[in-house]
Formats: sequence, structure tokens, C-alpha cells
Amino acid sequence: MRVLGIETSCDETAAAVVAIDPSGEAQILSHAVASQIGEHRPFGGIVPEVAARAHLAHLDGLIRRAMGEAKLDFTALDGVAATAGPGLIGGVLVGVTTAKSIAVVHRKPFIAVNHLEGHALTARLTDNVAFPYLLLLVSGGHCQLLAVEGVGRYRRLGTTVDDAAGEAFDKVAKMLGLGYPGGPAIENAAKRGDAKRFDLPRPMKGKPGCDFSFSGLKTAVRAAAETLPPGPLSETDVNDIAAGFQAAVVDSVIDRVGRAFDRFADTYPRGRTLVVAGGVAANTALRAALESLSVKRGFAFVAPPVALCTDNAVMIAWAGVERLRLGLTDPLDFKARPRWPLDPDAPRATGAGVKA
Ligand code: KG4
Ligand code: ZN
Repeated sequence: MRVLGIETSCDETAAAVVAIDPSGEAQILSHAVASQIGEHRPFGGIVPEVAARAHLAHLDGLIRRAMGEAKLDFTALDGVAATAGPGLIGGVLVGVTTAKSIAVVHRKPFIAVNHLEGHALTARLTDNVAFPYLLLLVSGGHCQLLAVEGVGRYRRLGTTVDDAAGEAFDKVAKMLGLGYPGGPAIENAAKRGDAKRFDLPRPMKGKPGCDFSFSGLKTAVRAAAETLPPGPLSETDVNDIAAGFQAAVVDSVIDRVGRAFDRFADTYPRGRTLVVAGGVAANTALRAALESLSVKRGFAFVAPPVALCTDNAVMIAWAGVERLRLGLTDPLDFKARPRWPLDPDAPRATGAGVKA
């Protein structure tokens, strides 16, 4: 079974082909990604209209490259999968329309993939993780803890009451003049910084439940910067604030995951794996802390390679494979969705200003 995957929901245009043989052995046949970072950098963040145009300009070439690297033509595919949400709708429409066109012309099944499901199932491709498992999804748009029961079956244990973790990294980086995207820049600066110099809060630490909050931390970072003498921040100041901020995020996430372990273990005594996914999962300090917490709690820890944690089309092709082999395909009138929660029945997060 061979599936072409297409990803266009944010600022990465990507196409990939994933195959699975009858024994269940999966193989990444190609993996093409074009980042739009350069196109958005002058604006200090992602501009949806710029993103949609760039997807349109690059997607055909990337699909050609992915099919070429896989040494396949469209007739050899068993399905075409595209991210159909959640995300910036202009970009999502570019990917969905392209996938539907290929599916129609070559009479192949179309699979509408939830971008978050792509992140959620990647660990099954890379590490053969069995259901159920606990998932920490930390990206630019999302920060959630989910019990993954099966394909299409998710139970949300916690989410952010305000900003996503990656969003906080990006905003603090902007504040410190570190540019966009913020995560890697903060991580880099933090390596040379003193995390103890500034006393920053650990949002939600010790509170019941598994929800996250990062907007107070962002405000505290601004207040800390304002205690310094007027004028541009020195390199040492920037490094120390970055290190302090990163340590606060890690502490806060670790506290939340610790609580999620308890809740998950109560409901799923067989599940003993923590999977981390999403762009922020590229952060080495966070990975190390999650790994040591998992060891302490008797859980296996799985973090897919960084290139498969940040947005990519391999995860969409793989989610396509997982769905297709269960007979889950979608009609050609499937509508792209700007919002699409993995667990529509989840209770609202405990806090004000809740984002879906
Ligand atoms: O999953 P992703 O590529 O796109 C979304 O679906 O959001 O995640 C992008 C986010 C950005 O906010 C970026 O700053 C963050 O992941 N990120 C990091 C690191 N690398 C990327 N955050 C912290 N440390 C990193 N090394
Ligand atoms: Zn993502």
C-alpha cells in the first residue's frame, strides 16, 4: 500500500510517499519539505495570505519531487492524503484541492487527514508504538495532552487555557529581538544563559488537572526585561532571560505531564508509553526532562526524529496509510476545516480565554 501525503496547513509546504508491505513493515519512500521561513521573516510571524500563495507556488513542484524520489507515478498509488484542517484555511484549501484533483484524475481514494492526527500517529511509523499511549502534542498552534486509544480515537486530558507552548517561544523570542521562528533561537541562546538569574513563574504548577497556561509567563518575561537598565538588552541579558524562560516552560510542562501520567495510568493500565510530538518536541531540554520523568514513572519515552516532529508530509501520508487500511476514506466534497479538535467531546479547559 502506497500513499501520497500533502501538508499545507501552516508555513511548511510538504509532500511525501509512505509505503507499507503486507507484513506491516513501513517505509518512507520520499520526504520533500519547503519551508516558508524566509518569506515570513520580514513580518516577524506567519502571514496567512503570504502562506497560501507560497503553498500554491511550491506544491506542484514538491509533489513532482516526492513522486520522483519514490520512483512512482500516480497510477501506482493506493490513496492520496492531505491535511484538511485544522490550520490556516487558505493553505489547507490549496493542499486539499490538489489532493482531490489527483484522486479524481487517477481514480484513487482521497483521505482527509487531521493535521493533529498526523502528529499523533507519527510514533507508530517511527517506533511501532502500540495503542493506547499518552501523547504530549506541543506545537506553534497547540499544547495538549491526549490519550490515544486508536486511529480517530482520542481523549483529551488537558490543553492550554491561553497560548500554545510554541507560540510562547515565538512571542518571547520576538520580545528579545531573536527573530522568527523563536523556538530554535531561544534554545540556542538558552545554552549560554543562566536560568537562575531571573525568578520566573511556573504557570499551573501544582494545580489540579492537566491544563497548561503560558501567557502569564510571557508577561513575567517582559516585566523581568523591564527591570534592566533602559536601552538594548546585552547578549548576556538575552541569554539569561531565554534560559530562564525555557526552564520555566520545561518545569511547567513536566508538572502537567506528571499529572497526566496518573490519570492515564488509572484509565489505561496497559498503556506505558509517553509520546511527544509537534515542533516544540524538537527542544532538547524538554526532551531530556520528559525522558527522565518517564524513566522515573516507569513509562517508555518515544520522541520521533526532529524532522518528523516539525510539520512534514510523511506524517500525513502515514495517517493516510493508517486510515486507508481500516477502510476510512473520504468523499470528494469533504470540506477543509479551519478548526478540527481531535476530541470534540473534551470539556473546556479550566481558565479564561480558552482557545479551541
Ligand atoms: O509543529 P510545528 O512545526 O507547526 C505547528 O503545527 O505549529 O511547530 C512549530 C513551533 C514554532 O512555534 C516553533 O518556534 C517551535 O515549534 N519550535 C521550537 C523548537 N523548534 C521549533 N520550540 C522550542 N524549541 C525548539 N528547538
Ligand atoms: Zn504541526
